[in-house]
Amino acid sequence: MYSAEEQQKLIALTTELLKRTSVAISDKEKDASFLHQLLSVIRYHEWRYYVLSEPVIADFEYDQLFSFLKKIEEHYPETISIDSPTQRVSHDLTKEFPEVTHLVPMLSLDNSYDAEDLRLWDKRVRDLTGVEEIEYCMEPKFDGAGISVVFENDQLFRGATRGDGSVGEDITRNIKTLRSIPLSASFSTYGIYRIEIRGEALINKEAFKKLNVKRLEESLPPLANARNSASGGLRQQDPKDVADRKLEAFLYHVSFAENKNEENLLGTTLHAHSEIISLLHSLGFKTPQGELKKLKGIDAVIDACNAFEKKRESLAYEIDGLVIKVDALNLQKKCGYTSHHPRWAIAYKFAAKQATTLLKKVDFQVGRTGAITPVAKLEPVELAGVTISSISMFNEDFITEKDIRLGDRVLIERAGDVIPYIVMPVKEARSGTEEPILFPTHCPSCNEPLHKPDGEVNWRCVNINCPAQVAERLIHFVSKDAMDIRGLGAATIQEFVDEGLLKNIPDIYHLDYEQIRKLEGWKDKSVGNLQKSIEASKKQPLHRLIFGLGIRFIGETTAKKVSEQLHDITELKDWTSEQLMSMEDIGPKVAMSLYDFFHTPSNLEMIEALRKEGVTLVHEKRKPSADGLLAGKSFLFTGTLNMKRSVAESMVENNGGTVLGSVSSKLNYLVVGADAGSKLDKAKKLGTVIILTEDEFVKMVNG
Ligand code: IVH
Repeated sequence: MYSAEEQQKLIALTTELLKRTSVAISDKEKDASFLHQLLSVIRYHEWRYYVLSEPVIADFEYDQLFSFLKKIEEHYPETISIDSPTQRVSHDLTKEFPEVTHLVPMLSLDNSYDAEDLRLWDKRVRDLTGVEEIEYCMEPKFDGAGISVVFENDQLFRGATRGDGSVGEDITRNIKTLRSIPLSASFSTYGIYRIEIRGEALINKEAFKKLNVKRLEESLPPLANARNSASGGLRQQDPKDVADRKLEAFLYHVSFAENKNEENLLGTTLHAHSEIISLLHSLGFKTPQGELKKLKGIDAVIDACNAFEKKRESLAYEIDGLVIKVDALNLQKKCGYTSHHPRWAIAYKFAAKQATTLLKKVDFQVGRTGAITPVAKLEPVELAGVTISSISMFNEDFITEKDIRLGDRVLIERAGDVIPYIVMPVKEARSGTEEPILFPTHCPSCNEPLHKPDGEVNWRCVNINCPAQVAERLIHFVSKDAMDIRGLGAATIQEFVDEGLLKNIPDIYHLDYEQIRKLEGWKDKSVGNLQKSIEASKKQPLHRLIFGLGIRFIGETTAKKVSEQLHDITELKDWTSEQLMSMEDIGPKVAMSLYDFFHTPSNLEMIEALRKEGVTLVHEKRKPSADGLLAGKSFLFTGTLNMKRSVAESMVENNGGTVLGSVSSKLNYLVVGADAGSKLDKAKKLGTVIILTEDEFVKMVNG
């Protein structure tokens, strides 16, 4: 998109233009070249904000530039160009979702915490209904974000957040990215014309873990818990970002159902909660069906609750309790509602995975990209089976927003077996001796002043030679998924850096082994082993090196994709950002990062130094064997396959075939998995490509 140089120019221009915004408009401003500059600057900042989500100026500064342009255009309407940022339809730019009124208010649930609470509730239900022994349903209480979906005439018509219970936000476009919600379902078979269904959107534990691994690879702060990430995910402005979060939705309640004549079907055609859940299940919705238990009487419910709590950890998603519901809809009706919850249902809440402990100290760690992370040192405390004594506080904003102080008693939570985090300080426990946490102004490692670019959340040490960063970069370079140099662990790296043996990556390849032998704990054998594994790493495939360089936003997968396009790594310095972006799955952020890295002379020098040491910098394309089963045939995979993509690709290569990167006239076979998109369309259009299912492909390879 923009080269580093262009960006620098535009940023310098921004400062100049901002100064002019306060001056009265004269005909100097209608000068074509001036207007051109202003438009370019505004467009550039829109790109940083809307595309990269990494603005380099404050919102109000952008607003100043924008209203300046608007003022000029008002004075001189003849200067308005059709593609001026002021001509964009306004809804493209709004951050809000329109409001919608739920057909039936979304109520909350009353809570219970033990057997006694449940017995009291059961007594009330029996009194209200006059029934001796109630048939209950027990199902998980999903810990996500409440949603409501309306189907009309078998089509998904609207999706909304809970909002304040009566009015929610219309997030239909986003809801449509949730693959677990069918876009159409044949409710009409059951005489249902309009139906409002309640449910919970959530991110399952595995997807949440992956999401955070990816964010860490991209140097983004990890998301603290799955629940907030789900509700944040539903509100993303771009449905593509919603899809990225891999949200799924369980639907567990029908609040409204009518036929074409607007007659209510709840309690007439539809008789019981369990029946409704199986109906939804059979229509293709995700429901609590698999976990739902029908139980007679409260004793059976209590036993089942106790048994289920043990199952909690084994579920694929987070739950914070169970929900007990009266099964028969006519009995539900007899129970009725209070103003904020139904009397026919109750939540049975599990003990939270939370604890409080003392915040003793805060350390500031320097990451390999120079980002400073505050780490809370805690009085050790057990939380869901793990002792916790140290916890990341992500960044300065996290501390200020939560007003966390040294000496505070803090509430910590471990959500979803993932990273524990501080929920809040317990302000009531303050004695007055707590002290503010002072963020350092200088790097704790090299003492250079820290910088915080506009729009970024992290303070950074920009000293490329900062020892902490050097050590972190080296640790990453030698790590298992990068160059995999055994015998060179984090502690050894730190020691070598401290001893002055290692200052940069190429130093690894000309270590002074004589000096190492003199260090404590090193013997001939261990030095020999180290030497061997360093030597062996020179032959690692190129993608491991690219990943190991620790370029921002370049994770393992991206490194592989990039290396496949190359013969020699230095080709990257000749790629334009457009060329970089044309690679599959490479967006502007990644492209810009690669571009910057390979346009920084010191990085190129480092790469040449590695070449001199004999490190592999070329991508060896496997030669297709001429007599393989797939010899002379080219393949491309698209959509989600049952087997790993890399396994499928190796199957092709091992049988003499080649794997292509895109659909073209050179392509012979396109193997399509679930949810195939534009590649399939393109292949169909070409007409020359043979389209295979995954099964057909496997059969073909197996002869
Ligand atoms: S039924 C009219 N069933 O928990 C009653 N709610 O803390 C509708 N929730 O507002 C609710 N799992 O967002 C029901 N299996 C489940 C649930 C569930 C989670 C949520 C729901 C509710 C909140 C109350």
